[in-house]
Amino acid sequence: MTKTTFYTDHWQHIENERVNRYEQMFAWRDGHAALISSLNLHTGSRVLDYGCGPGFVSLGIANIVSPTGRVYGVDLNKQFVRAASERAETIATVEYR
Ligand SMILES: C[S@@+](CC[C@H](N)C(=O)[O-])C[C@H]1O[C@@H](n2cnc3c(N)ncnc32)[C@H](O)[C@@H]1O
Repeated sequence: MTKTTFYTDHWQHIENERVNRYEQMFAWRDGHAALISSLNLHTGSRVLDYGCGPGFVSLGIANIVSPTGRVYGVDLNKQFVRAASERAETIATVEYR
């Protein structure tokens, strides 16, 4: 790990215990709605959630843009992407990469 790669390395390899903590920390909260309100999202919006982590915010956004919109959650951490994809298996408007 170097000074330049510290931030990326920090997220690339995450032990299970830290994944569990992040899933709690990054859960959807009422404050998220206020935070994204300035984006004026609406039914039909297409959204890229870059650095989506466990994907809870993407899911919250999917609730706003559905049924005709779409949310793409992108993250460098494979564990986050896998778990988020499983959680959203039945939700057609969100996709994680
Ligand atoms: C502080 S977390 C925020 C997670 C989510 N956005 C939320 O608010 O709940 C930052 C996320 O950005 C991701 N990340 C960091 N650098 C990235 C990069 N270069 N490309 C994609 N994702 C990245 C990390 O893996 C981590 O999941």
